[in-house]
Amino acid sequence: MLHVETRAFEAPDADLYVELARRAFEAVPLSQRQRDTVERVAHLHGSANPAGRAFVAIARVDGRGVGHLSGLPAHHLGRDGIRRIGWQVGCFVVDPAVQRQGVGRGLVEALSRELAARTADFVYTFPNPRSLPVFERHGYQPVGRAATRIALGRRHRAERSGAVLLAGGFEARPIDAAAARTVLAALDAAPTEPGNFVRDPAWFAWRFLEPAVAPAYRFAHLVHPRHGQHVVAIAEHAFRGVRFSVLADACPALSARTLPGAVRCAASLGASRFVYFTTNLPAISTGFTALGSRIPARLDPRPVEFLALPGDSIDVRELGTASILTADWMGF
Ligand SMILES: CC(C)(COP(=O)(O)OP(=O)(O)OC[C@H]1O[C@@H](n2cnc3c(N)ncnc32)[C@H](O)[C@@H]1OP(=O)(O)O)[C@@H](O)C(=O)NCCC(=O)NCCS
Repeated sequence: MLHVETRAFEAPDADLYVELARRAFEAVPLSQRQRDTVERVAHLHGSANPAGRAFVAIARVDGRGVGHLSGLPAHHLGRDGIRRIGWQVGCFVVDPAVQRQGVGRGLVEALSRELAARTADFVYTFPNPRSLPVFERHGYQPVGRAATRIALGRRHRAERSGAVLLAGGFEARPIDAAAARTVLAALDAAPTEPGNFVRDPAWFAWRFLEPAVAPAYRFAHLVHPRHGQHVVAIAEHAFRGVRFSVLADACPALSARTLPGAVRCAASLGASRFVYFTTNLPAISTGFTALGSRIPARLDPRPVEFLALPGDSIDVRELGTASILTADWMGF
């Protein structure tokens, strides 16, 4: 008998998720598999998140865990100036032995019902092509998408100071997680632009700098005389034998003007001159574009679709204008 339980996340749920994900992703290409560790999942779902602890739906057949879905809370500042919690539904896996039998649908129904009952909040997701139909059937609506881009940048020799000088007046230097905290503490970060998720130093420290997550990233201190200072998080990924630097995110949040500097920074200080990133930021750039080529949706191994559940707290169309960068869909 299938039973779906919903409740606040507890540490052993991370073990179940990682074990189910290992088996569920065995059938998908290597480059699309999850790289989650138990420590990373436990940290991201736990109470260190400034927006609070995650909520989970666990499916069991005869007491054995066969499916996992979670909602991670994030702060969002509406255009009306109201700060709300948005629940990002993800970490969606079903034991391959029972896939395509309605377990996934049962998880989406149970978790969505639970989260939608919090009428001051809203619910959204960045599904992959396998899970997209399950969300659509439940009534989630498309509100936006983030284009996948590949840019080829330059590797620069470091100055005596240790910094690299990048086109467009940007200067970048590699730093470790401890130094990233020091830079963030001294930042005179601008407040969140209404209509966006809150990407402040506390959020960045939880998302990237804690010991459970930091080893997956290189960090850089990016400086520009007019655009100020950023801490940039750069992951890496291999696809068809090619290594990529992944521009994961930055604090303060990047804009159309600072994105090219962050892409050049990832090319110069990340694992590779090839930079992979997904964003809906408009492409403003000078000279040879640092924003590279947009991968056509039909060739994109991980198209980033943004879906939300219509509710009372916010018009879901407003959500589509929130800036999205690679780390937002939680793959990196
Ligand atoms: C996506 C997933 C969680 C769905 O769970 P499920 O229990 O199989 O879902 P349901 O039985 O309720 O719904 C099945 C529907 O999901 C979609 N689906 C599931 N697996 C799919 C696949 N491999 N390819 C394409 N669509 C798929 C189809 O629309 C399917 O409907 P159909 O059987 O009528 O064609 C499960 O397939 C899985 O764990 N996949 C691997 C991990 C993954 O990609 N997770 C999504 C991360 S965002």
